[in-house]
This record gives sequence, C-alpha cells and structure tokens, in this order.
Amino acid sequence: MTKSAELLPNTILENRYEVRKLIVAGSSTRVYLGHHVGLDQPVIIKQLRELYPDRRQAEEQSEQFQVEARLLAKLRHPNLVQVYDTFSVEGVPVLVMEMVPGRNLEQVVTTEKDLFCESTVLKWAHQLLDVLNYLHTRVPPVIVRGLQPSNIILDPSQQLRLVDFGLAKNMDEKGSGTRNIVKGLGEDGFASLEQNAYTKTDARSDIYSLGAVIHYLLTKETPPSSPQRVVAPTDPLVNPQEKNPTVSPATWSAIQQMMAIRPNERPNSASEVARLLPRGPSPTAGKRLCVNCHELLKVEQMEGVEVDICQKCGGLWLDEGELSFLRRKAETMELQAEELAKTIALPADHPAIQNLDENGPPRPFWSTVLEMLKMRGTK
Ligand SMILES: Nc1ncnc2c1ncn2[C@@H]1O[C@H](COP(=O)(O)OP(=O)(O)O)[C@@H](O)[C@H]1O
Ligand SMILES: [Mg+2]
Repeated sequence: MTKSAELLPNTILENRYEVRKLIVAGSSTRVYLGHHVGLDQPVIIKQLRELYPDRRQAEEQSEQFQVEARLLAKLRHPNLVQVYDTFSVEGVPVLVMEMVPGRNLEQVVTTEKDLFCESTVLKWAHQLLDVLNYLHTRVPPVIVRGLQPSNIILDPSQQLRLVDFGLAKNMDEKGSGTRNIVKGLGEDGFASLEQNAYTKTDARSDIYSLGAVIHYLLTKETPPSSPQRVVAPTDPLVNPQEKNPTVSPATWSAIQQMMAIRPNERPNSASEVARLLPRGPSPTAGKRLCVNCHELLKVEQMEGVEVDICQKCGGLWLDEGELSFLRRKAETMELQAEELAKTIALPADHPAIQNLDENGPPRPFWSTVLEMLKMRGTK
C-alpha cells in the first residue's frame, strides 16, 4: 500500500470545501475538520490514506469508496451522520459529511472517572439497536462491520451518532454473503469471530459487536477478542456485574446471547435484541421509594400511562417517555381548548375566559401535569 498525500490547511476542494486541520490520522483514513464556504458550516472531510500501488487497482478502490459514499448518502436516520459529497482529489477519494459535535464513546469512557450505570448504557444501547435495525432492513442490508466505541459519537443532546462506515459492507444481491466496499478489519475485542476470520458476515456480526460495545460501556474494559475466547479453556468473557454492581442478570443474559461465538446462537435481528435487552430499571417495578417521604410508590394508571405515585405526598414519578406522552396530550388539549374558544367567538383576553381558571370545574388533568412538572426537578 502507498500513502496518499495529506490535504493541507486552507486548500479549497471542489470550489466550496475549505480544509481547516487534520483531526485524526487512522490506519486507513485521515479525518479533517473542514468548512463549507458557501453555507458557512463546519464539515468533516475524510480522505482515504492507503492506496493500492497498482494504478488499475487504485482506481477500482477509489470507485468502491465512492459507491459506498453514494449508498450512505441515501440513508436517513437520527443516529446516523449525513453524507454530503464525494469526489476524488488527485486520484484520492474523499468524503464530505456532517460534523457531529461531541466526543466518541472511547473518549467519553476514558475521560469519565466513574462507571456508567446500567440505565444510561441501556438507553444508549437501544439507540444503537434502532439504527442497526434501520440499516439491516435496507434492501440490500447495510452491515456496519466496524461497530466499536471510537466510531460512535455522543452529541450534546445525548444522541449517539454512528460516524464511521469505513468497513461498511453491502450484502450482495444474491444474498450469498457480503462484499467489501472499503477494505479493512474490525478491532479485535469488538469483532465477531467470522469478522476476525474474514469470512461471511451479516447482521448478526453487528449484533456481536454491539454486545461487546455494551460490555465495554458497563466495565470500561475492552472485552477479550473472539479468537481469544475460542482458544481459552473457559470463556474469559466475564459478567460485567463483577465490576459494575448496577448490571442486572437480564442484561448479562442478553449480552451473552449477542456475543455468542456461533452466529446461529445469537439473536437473529436487532429488533429481537431490542425485545431481549431491558430498557432500564422500570419506575413501575414497585420497589422504589419516594425520595421525599420514603414511602413505597404505588403503580397507578393515569391518562393511559402507568405512573408511580406516592400515597403520602402525591408525588408522581415518570420516566422521559411517559413525560413526553403526557406533555403531547396536554398540548393537544390546549389546542382543543383554543378551538373551542374560537367557536364560541370570544376573544382570548375576554374576562369570561380569564375567569375560567378560578371558576371553572376542577381540572384533574391539568393539576396532574403541573404536579408532574414540579416533581420532575426533584427526580
Ligand atoms: N462526522 C464526524 N463528526 C465529528 N467527528 C468525526 C466525524 N467522523 C469522524 N470523526 C472523528 O474522527 C475519528 C476517526 O474517524 P473514523 O471515521 O472513525 O475514521 P477511521 O476510518 O480512521 O476509523 C472518530 O473516532 C471521530 O472521533
Ligand atoms: Mg473509526
């Protein structure tokens, strides 16, 4: 392999992308911070670093890179990164994409001094399952193949974004296996045995990697590689609970199934894993105490939502999903009330409307929402 020439700061590519600085030089690519001059927006410019010395092979490699880029540009998912452009600079293929602010999960894990609790990791895991499900259900399926912490960025709104498709493979039409789009090899601890052995990979290979990523996030240690696990007399993959007491048996069981050495012993699809993997400690587990008065919380149905309620202080305990459900419902009711006010043709500032608050019938739903919003801060 021969190295391509580095792009220099201040170079303008294709009349619109300015190269600002090199951020990372990986084994096969270089990643630069760039700027879209026309739109005045930061962008990421990714350049292939290793090229085949043979001209014909290099051309083929460049063509493959751009085929992959076009494929990725068609994908739309909140946990993916948007690909904007692809072209070649002096025969070297380049990809331009959205710049995601934040740090990758490897940086997040190494800079955070404490362990992450299971519920945080499970929230992240379900986001990744969502995007894997999207990719695996494309026709033909898109297999990431390089799922590992450094390829996932945690953005400021706590969304995970998959940024590296350097190893992405596209199942060939006959479904007989996969074909390399850009050549490369996954990182050991996160790669399934079939991936480490360069044999046929499919959606289940990504499921293995995700299991390994979850294990890593819970323990802050890279799991033993799949070849290591095969040769050891007893499997060196240990229950993350030994290191992190917040890990539940259900999570460990799901990780073990995801990280089964044989693909046919793993769950078949990301949606199957989503059913298997807990979604975090449920507020309705019936075991939680009110932090205000230390009473056992009682599960009640409220406006179609199961909530934990304190019998003593009346405090409500909701998770984010329940809260946004109720908020949406409140918004709809507000709109309906506005509609109603219009039908009876009273201006919004009419005293009769102003008086509604004091003189109207009790409105349990509103007080519920208000109570709920008050409690939110103390959760
Ligand atoms: N779109 C992006 N936005 C922000 N940072 C990115 C983006 N793409 C890559 N990076 C950063 O650059 C690093 C290397 O990029 P990556 O695409 O993983 O290249 P490589 O093929 O060398 O692994 C990532 O770990 C991430 O920190
Ligand atoms: Mg990478």
